Amino acid sequence: MIKVQDVLYARFSAPDLDVMEAYLLDFGLVRAARDDNALYMRASDGEHHVHITELGPPAFQGFAFEAASLEDLAIISKADGASPIETLETPGGGARVTLADPDGFQIEVVHGLETLAPIDVAHAAARNSGSARQRLGGTVRLAPGPAKCKRLGHVVLNVTDFEASDTFYKSHFGLVSSDELFDEDDVIRVAFSRVDRGLDYVDHHTLLTVPAEEAGLGHIAFEVEDANDVFVGHEHLVAKGYRHSWGIGRHVLGSQIFDYWFDPYGFRLEHWTDGDLFNQDTPMGRHPMATALDSQWGATAADRKV
Ligand SMILES: [Fe+2]
Repeated sequence: MIKVQDVLYARFSAPDLDVMEAYLLDFGLVRAARDDNALYMRASDGEHHVHITELGPPAFQGFAFEAASLEDLAIISKADGASPIETLETPGGGARVTLADPDGFQIEVVHGLETLAPIDVAHAAARNSGSARQRLGGTVRLAPGPAKCKRLGHVVLNVTDFEASDTFYKSHFGLVSSDELFDEDDVIRVAFSRVDRGLDYVDHHTLLTVPAEEAGLGHIAFEVEDANDVFVGHEHLVAKGYRHSWGIGRHVLGSQIFDYWFDPYGFRLEHWTDGDLFNQDTPMGRHPMATALDSQWGATAADRKV
């Protein structure tokens, strides 16, 4: 077992790279590289890419974890069904091991993906809350346009065998549960899992596995700067006529302010901000299933379009 550091990117295929690129620009990503067969889009943090589209029929192929070291790649390459370590000749480079999860999604474990200079974006104006006045003499003036995605934060998978998937991800990549949801018979059905970086605080969830009849992508989720960016990005996607899925609201588990959209091929992408950060000392939560989709304000579970 290794302990992965984070999620790096998701990999799709689609028949028209122009259509995908136009959508992703409006969603808040930026082109990192493109050739005849593939599109690589980045966010404002340094990772070379966070979203790959290969030319082909519409499909979610899988996603990549970041390995801490080449030694960790060597360890994971010995897992059942894992590939040997290969050097990537594609944009961003790096070294990679691939293996299939229990539903057949391709999981890539990558070390040494190129890092680019971060994109400078206008950061949040200081906030005045009731108890902390921080924007003294200043104003809030927001430019319209796409949200500015910082990074890929988590992946949600619909899985056909929850226990098999949960065991696979935890035993191979060292993920740990932040919150688990149990059904009427007290059986764990859903787990919000995060990477384990010891005392370092990490996102409440890196992976969420949800039981389903059919395996598939639930969504991939990109962090943005703040609630202003969620709303500005929402209005931009409305103006462009894209299909909305769910939001804007505030989750219970993870606490994020969220907004979900469909890409032109029906895959769901999320903007989120202000999520919880946990470390090894944060106790795990256990909750009834119904809590999974609860909102604290804004769009409710019943508002969700699938
Ligand atoms: Fe999410």
